Formats: sequence, C-alpha cells, structure tokens
Amino acid sequence: MAARHLLLLALVCLHAPHSASAQQPEEATVIVKGSTKIAVTDVNYICATIDWWPPEKCNYNQCPWGQSSILNLDLDHPFLAQAIQEFHNLRIRLGGSLQDRVVYDVGTNSPCSPFTNVSNGLFGFSAGCLSMDRWDKLNDLFQKTGAIITFGLNALHGRYNVQRSFWAGKWNSTNTYDFVEYTISKGYPVDSWEFGNELSGHGTGARVDAKLYGKDVIELKSILRQLYRTPLSQPLLLAPGGFFDQQWYTQLLQTSGHGVVNALTHHIYNLGGGM
Ligand SMILES: *[C@@H]1O[C@H](CO)[C@@H](O)[C@H](O)[C@H]1NC(C)=O
Ligand SMILES: *[C@@H]1O[C@H](CO)[C@@H](O)[C@H](O)[C@H]1NC(C)=O
Repeated sequence: MAARHLLLLALVCLHAPHSASAQQPEEATVIVKGSTKIAVTDVNYICATIDWWPPEKCNYNQCPWGQSSILNLDLDHPFLAQAIQEFHNLRIRLGGSLQDRVVYDVGTNSPCSPFTNVSNGLFGFSAGCLSMDRWDKLNDLFQKTGAIITFGLNALHGRYNVQRSFWAGKWNSTNTYDFVEYTISKGYPVDSWEFGNELSGHGTGARVDAKLYGKDVIELKSILRQLYRTPLSQPLLLAPGGFFDQQWYTQLLQTSGHGVVNALTHHIYNLGGGM
C-alpha cells in the first residue's frame, strides 16, 4: 500500500513541473507579413489514398487490410459512393508501397499475375497485376462520384534489385505507355500521374538513384506529351512521392530540368502515404 502511494506521489512530482510551466507561458511576439503569398491551398485539399496491399499483408501480428485495396474493394457498396460524394470532388490517390511492382494488364504485358506473398519479394510480395476490367470499374466509380484521381505509376518496372534496398537499371516505360494510352482511349480523366512511391533518399523497401530517376521522369513526360494531344488536356506529372532528402530531390530536379515535374510530392513519416 505504502509503495503504491509512493509511486503515485512520484508520478505527481514528475508531472508537476510540466503543468506549472504550462500555466505560466512565456511571452512571445509573432509578426506575420501578410503582404506576400507563398502558397495556395486549392479547394480539393482533402485527399484519401486507396492502397494496393492484399489481405495477406500483415504487420505487428495483425492483418488489417482485408478487402480494402484497389484490387478487392467492393466498388458497388452504396456507402463508398456516398462517402466519396459527400466530399464534393474528393481527391483520391491510388498508390502505396506495392505500386512500383504493379503490372498493367494491357499490351505486351498481358496477361499478368496477381500479387502473391513470397519471402524474397519487395515487402514480401511478388509483382502484381491490374486488369483493365478492374480499371474500368474503378473509373465508373470515380466518374459517378466526381473524384479527382492521382494514379501512382510503377517506377520499378524493368529495374532489378542489386543489393539490399538498392534498385538499378532503366525504368521500362512500355507498360505505362500502353496503360496511359488505354486510359485516354476510354476517356478516363486522370488528374495527375505520380511516378513512384517512396523510392527517394534512403527509400523504404527500395531506393533508386536520383539521376536515373530524373532521366525516367523526362521519359514519362515525353510519353504524356505524345499521348495527350493538346497541352491543356495533359495531366500533371508528380514525383517522387517519397521522403524528403534535399540532395536527392535537388539531383532529381537538376537532371529532369525545367517544366518536367509539375509538383514535387513527399510523404511525412508516421502519417503513411499522404501527399
Ligand atoms: C520493356 O518491356 C516490354 C514488355 O512490356 C518488352 O517487350 C521490352 O523488351 C522491354 N524493353 C526493354 C528495354 O527491356
Ligand atoms: C504468406 O501469407 C500467409 C498467410 O496468408 C502467412 O502465413 C505466411 O507467413 C506468408 N508468407 C510470407 C513469406 O510472408
């Protein structure tokens, strides 16, 4: 009993300095220069991500993904459409860790095989597959609900794992070319194409050299210019959707040059895949 009181007292004492200082804030003067605007937040700033993780994905003794992925989400569920519509043009990002290993089931890459868990795969999985039938159904939902779509492309396609998390080799753009061509032929209004997920700096599971990445975004830009006939219809090119690393980001932009990447995107630790 005594020991418990002592412990309680100790906890109160530990807490005391903190609450005392909270009651006596130090004075500070904040000057806001309101004359110049450094950034604008557009009205569709609320964003949700739909990820690729299959139900077999487990972490910390839990397997939480179930039927929530791009590949298995119940797109006909009335709550889903209603929830999206309530945001009035909700921005939806399709992407996540496995996006870089997704093969689009179109052109020379068809047919492709679904994600299966393999012990030596990136994040424990093999490459996966997005069927055009599923892409059609996703777009039905997006058009019906007025969602604004950012699609994360497979920036590891064609590369190979050299050592630990380091991936080398040129990005093979054929699959993206065929996929974007298909998307345009169907009239699906993708708002922006994002190149890669968390491959910058030290990466998460995989990383790619910034100069190589810079050359690949030039190639992606030229594909978009070629396939979207008019400049005004051309979606934005976003990159790299990774963790900020000044040297890496600088090298990317130095290599890509002006007017290639329309917006740099970065993720914030512990918040998962935000934009
Ligand atoms: C890129 O991938 C396609 C299959 O999608 C293949 O036919 C082509 O040879 C590959 N290109 C290179 C340079 O590896
Ligand atoms: C594959 O998934 C099953 C459960 O679905 C799990 O028991 C097994 O450990 C996984 N294998 C790998 C290599 O992650």
